[in-house]
Amino acid sequence: MTITSPPYDKLRDYQGYNLDFENLAKELYRVTKEGGVVVWVIGDATIKGSETGSSFRQALFFKEIGFNLHDTMIYQKSGFANPSKNRYHQIFEYMFVFSKGKPKTFNPIKDKPNKTQYNFSKKRRNKDGTMTHQDDKSRIEVLPFGMRFNIWRYVTGRGNTTKDSIAFEHPALFPEKLVRDHIISWSNVGDIVLDPMNGAGTTTKMAYLLNRKFIGIDISEKYCDIARKRLLISPFNEKKR
Ligand SMILES: C[S@@+](CC[C@H](N)C(=O)[O-])C[C@H]1O[C@@H](n2cnc3c(N)ncnc32)[C@H](O)[C@@H]1O
Repeated sequence: MTITSPPYDKLRDYQGYNLDFENLAKELYRVTKEGGVVVWVIGDATIKGSETGSSFRQALFFKEIGFNLHDTMIYQKSGFANPSKNRYHQIFEYMFVFSKGKPKTFNPIKDKPNKTQYNFSKKRRNKDGTMTHQDDKSRIEVLPFGMRFNIWRYVTGRGNTTKDSIAFEHPALFPEKLVRDHIISWSNVGDIVLDPMNGAGTTTKMAYLLNRKFIGIDISEKYCDIARKRLLISPFNEKKR
């Protein structure tokens, strides 16, 4: 699987580098195995009062070159970067989940406290020790947790996005938990996780901690250095947490 986030709409200056989006998308299709997944995290800049819509354009391009648009998920942030005066504050980005064919792996995270999912099949032990299976809807048993929805909220900022202070030399970090949750969902132990715009190495760090193989690429040598350092300190940090 791949999880990555491109530089969007020149919103930030990553040391002046540009991205050839269409070629990158085609290369991602080429290197993704049948059943593999690409998670593309992107938001839109607002230029002269109008949102660019780059996110939609890119999603449709991924479809054009052969990917399935498997799920359009939302990454909800705990706060906004810029206050809005004439519209609601912007607090989300898209997490497009593309797949090459049908996704091979889906390990759903079941951490949503459940109110509506019931276990209808009830077992009761009789006096003689035998079991009776009942289909008794009046005596429903609520399972404690169900599969979460596809809007994921993360608290961002120092100490939340990551505890690695060195990472904040990069201007646009993934929350570690967001990457962890996607890696768990779409890959298994031993699978390969790629981030072709690895930045400060959140993907490579989380893949390492989750016992996946990983490949991280970034055009900036400075960010690659940070990513390498985070790999070296990460197991140590995790033990302290
Ligand atoms: C949104 S950031 C990714 C941040 C990363 N998810 C993290 O948590 O640190 C986008 C990254 O793309 C890199 N980048 C820009 N153009 C690139 C290119 N042509 N090839 C590879 N990486 C590029 C930038 O250096 C930047 O680190």
